[in-house]
Amino acid sequence: MGFTKEGYEKYQRIIEDISKLPSLPEIATRLMEVVNSPDTSADDAASLIEKDPALTSTLLRMANSAFYGMPRTVSSVSSAVVILGFNTIRSIVLSASILKVFSSRMGVEQFKHQRFWRHSILCAIGAKLIAKQLMHTLMLDPESAFCAGILHDIGKLIFEQYVPGEFSKACNHAVENKMSLVKAEKEVMGITHAEIGNFIADKWALPLDLENALVYHHNPGGTDKPSAFVAAVHCADQMAHKAGADLWDNEEIEPEWDGAYSTLGIVEDDFNTCLDELRKNIDKPTEFLAMVNYAE
Ligand SMILES: [Fe+2]
Ligand SMILES: [Fe+2]
Repeated sequence: MGFTKEGYEKYQRIIEDISKLPSLPEIATRLMEVVNSPDTSADDAASLIEKDPALTSTLLRMANSAFYGMPRTVSSVSSAVVILGFNTIRSIVLSASILKVFSSRMGVEQFKHQRFWRHSILCAIGAKLIAKQLMHTLMLDPESAFCAGILHDIGKLIFEQYVPGEFSKACNHAVENKMSLVKAEKEVMGITHAEIGNFIADKWALPLDLENALVYHHNPGGTDKPSAFVAAVHCADQMAHKAGADLWDNEEIEPEWDGAYSTLGIVEDDFNTCLDELRKNIDKPTEFLAMVNYAE
């Protein structure tokens, strides 16, 4: 990767620290397996969720919230699974679990969790909007796109948790030099939040589409065959920033990948239509955080 000796040692140490990453709560991992297997019934998924009382109440609260806009009261886990569908359940459980795993603060001044989650959730909503628009032409699953949006910048939370000093330097470096955080991370730490996506995906056994969204969301063209799924997350990330969901005021961002529209088969007008729609959802992240009982 073209490191100096010092840069390489720093990189090695960061990777070592990150290998202490906790596992996802077992329930989230199991649910992901269950949901991915073709012969799962709604009852299988429901009985798994019911083993966790906190998750059960989160799920019911979410199923009955305006966020999912269900027409009638959902009073049991099994009906929530049937009505919302497996993939929506997967995104709720994954989001709730991740918010719980990373609830502690490490005192990195520039890095505000509230702003981080607002950005990630808005990106998730944007990715879902794009996927819905393109569902018939590209067969993108809107709920998988939502999950990918929630997770796309998770590497930043991991940096904050495991290498807070280095990450703090990278944030300051970005602010002081008016550069994107991803570029500042590379300069200060030798590795970016996107690059550590590989480790996270391995550790948590995430499906390949999610792994690719973590690793390539800044540059979907970095793979041999750029996927529409990753391009959708990339565009949603750009949209979330354009709608004002940044880590700090005037945050610099990386330019848009120039293959994004052609990979998705859209034109600039389509992007702007989605962006207008996303702007109408600007308060939704706060609603979503309240549903998973998140408190700053
Ligand atoms: Fe990112
Ligand atoms: Fe992002």
